[in-house]
Amino acid sequence: MGYRVVVAGATGNVGREMLNILSERHFPVDELTVLASRKSLGTEVSFGEKTLKTKDLDTFDFTGWDIALFAVGSEATKKYAPAAAKAGCIVIDNSSLYRYDPDVPLIVPEVNADAVEGYAKKNVIANPNCSTAQMVVALKPLHDRATIKRVVVSTYQSVSGAGKAGADELWDQTKSIYNPTDDKPPKTFTKQIAFNVIPHIDIFMEDGTTKEEWKMVAETKKIIDPKIKVTATCVRVPVFVGHSEAINIEFEDHLDEDEAREILREAPGIMVIDKREDGGYVTPVECVGDFATFISRVRQDSTIDNGLNLWCVSDNLRKGAALNAVQIAELVGNRILKKG
Ligand SMILES: NC(=O)c1ccc[n+]([C@@H]2O[C@H](COP(=O)([O-])OP(=O)(O)OC[C@H]3O[C@@H](n4cnc5c(N)ncnc54)[C@H](OP(=O)(O)O)[C@@H]3O)[C@@H](O)[C@H]2O)c1
Repeated sequence: MGYRVVVAGATGNVGREMLNILSERHFPVDELTVLASRKSLGTEVSFGEKTLKTKDLDTFDFTGWDIALFAVGSEATKKYAPAAAKAGCIVIDNSSLYRYDPDVPLIVPEVNADAVEGYAKKNVIANPNCSTAQMVVALKPLHDRATIKRVVVSTYQSVSGAGKAGADELWDQTKSIYNPTDDKPPKTFTKQIAFNVIPHIDIFMEDGTTKEEWKMVAETKKIIDPKIKVTATCVRVPVFVGHSEAINIEFEDHLDEDEAREILREAPGIMVIDKREDGGYVTPVECVGDFATFISRVRQDSTIDNGLNLWCVSDNLRKGAALNAVQIAELVGNRILKKG
């Protein structure tokens, strides 16, 4: 016996990837329905060997459905998720709407799976921001061993993190650079993204940080430990899929780089590829379509007492969104609904 599952946002980057992952991981689905906006009514999406036609989220009745995976952005989530949750369907949401709500667990299953028990207050579970998800997978096992005091992270985030519009803009603008009569000015991004990098993701906050940077701080504290200090610089780069992060970590206790590498090798969800030679590290193009968070360039930071540097790469549409959401659905199945 399996689950009745809804994927809302099935025509988007994350929604399509959720369908791939439900199929790849053989999630026990009894019945699956795919939703998007009215303009996409009847659009075909793939689920394994099957092709499904999208229905309109606006008129869908969630009564009798077990799990709804939402990837429709905060505004549409605000409009539709409460009714789904009220109808008894457990909502697993990819937007930022519920992440900071104390009544909603924010979960990365490798890190804080037990938090799933808190789902019942709103019948909603939140998925973290893509840049946070991969970072906390790397930080948690190191925190358990040597207690992290402070993290300094710089991100190199791919355009697919800005939805299909972001990926289209990089593609069209790159082509237009070679064809000056076909000018493609920035629309999704604030400046040219082709052959450029942009130190600005999401809106500016009062203190000069951006919302994306703020999310990494707030979400790391909620998922791992409120005592961890995080400072972030989030940068959009002309890469289609795969976020990279240069992470500097300061610990309470000494942690040798070799031991750190061993801890990371043993940790769930992590693949360490760290050879000190040409190409002995992972880059975004190599992580696409993979489940793992890849760690490379682990090395001591000799400028502080207990410091390490590392390089962290993951598929933002997978661990950063769709995979994490499906892993949460697996947790819900195993620990709450117990049908499969
Ligand atoms: N991309 C990432 O790396 C990433 C990572 C973590 C979290 N997220 C979050 O996941 C969500 C989806 O992101 P995405 O990258 O998949 O965006 P996307 O490619 O732009 O897709 C958006 C999806 O939402 C649907 N949608 C939007 N407004 C709707 C409405 N009013 N009613 C019904 N359906 C609506 C769209 O349907 P139509 O095609 O019909 O418009 C489409 O299926 C966002 O909240 C995003 O912040 C994304």
